[in-house]
Amino acid sequence: MYAQMVDTGAKKLRSPEEMTPEERAFQARVDADIKIEPKDWMPEAYRKTLIRQISQHAHSEIVGMLPEGNWITRAPTLQRKAILMAKVQDEAGHGLYLYCAAETLGVSRDQMVADLHSGKAKYSSIFNYPTLTWADIGAIGWLVDGAAIMNQIPLCRCSFGPYSRAMIRVCKEESFHQRQGFDIMIKLCRGTPEQKAMAQDALNRWWWPSLMMFGPPDASSVHSAQSAQWKIKILSNDELRQRFIEQTVPQADFLGITMPDPDLKWNPERGHYDFGAIDWSELYEVVKGNGPCNRDRLRARVEAWENGAWVREAALAHAAKRAAAAEKAA
Ligand SMILES: [Fe+2]
Ligand SMILES: [Fe+2]
Repeated sequence: MYAQMVDTGAKKLRSPEEMTPEERAFQARVDADIKIEPKDWMPEAYRKTLIRQISQHAHSEIVGMLPEGNWITRAPTLQRKAILMAKVQDEAGHGLYLYCAAETLGVSRDQMVADLHSGKAKYSSIFNYPTLTWADIGAIGWLVDGAAIMNQIPLCRCSFGPYSRAMIRVCKEESFHQRQGFDIMIKLCRGTPEQKAMAQDALNRWWWPSLMMFGPPDASSVHSAQSAQWKIKILSNDELRQRFIEQTVPQADFLGITMPDPDLKWNPERGHYDFGAIDWSELYEVVKGNGPCNRDRLRARVEAWENGAWVREAALAHAAKRAAAAEKAA
């Protein structure tokens, strides 16, 4: 998921007359759906916005491994364990893929990692919630990966070539993630009353944070207009959230469990589900670093980086040795 931005620094959209000739040519390419590639000229703000968006996305994939990795040793069967391991490894792959896409814009991997570890860079708020039971692994796949797909499918059409191509591949894997989560939920909901109660409890805890994954309401999301003009945000936060609700409610009906929202009901006049008010103060607190697991997540990432130092040093020493040997042979 993951392009969840809490935006700052609103700017008014520029009309074609206000643009430089370079900017006009750039916008014409975007309007014609011609992909922008790393070596093409681009406005500095486009580059910066994309670096922020893609690196946040990459960090979310990597930090997102932690809540689920927590359950690999406790998965209930060998098959569930193998599936969960494959899923968590996919997320690592998504992260590395996205770091590469961001690097093409001129930022180094070391810089991005340093910004994550210092708390300067953000990642999706959803990964700051704890996974308390096995049902949470079902709920995450069903809801969190489901929301990720909703967000990422439109990004397959985004204007920046490396990002759009990464999204095509990532979305294929996300759909497997969503299916494995829903499959866990089906099993629990058709199991004992205790198992079904566990599934309901997981839905109760993950529903509202999943809706917050799409970011703040459009009215307070100030970067949206520019990102839409540049085609790096195709649908608005509120549109994506509504689509997600529409997709997910029938799935909960199928499972026989209910969203923890008494105001959620079909509105035949709008042709959409109405839903209750989201507690945005919770999102802002989590983004500020005060969610239930923010400190744990960052500590785990920093520790992994520090514990891996010897691997990086050994790889560099090995590369230097090989280069020296090749030089000698030449
Ligand atoms: Fe992913
Ligand atoms: Fe995923």
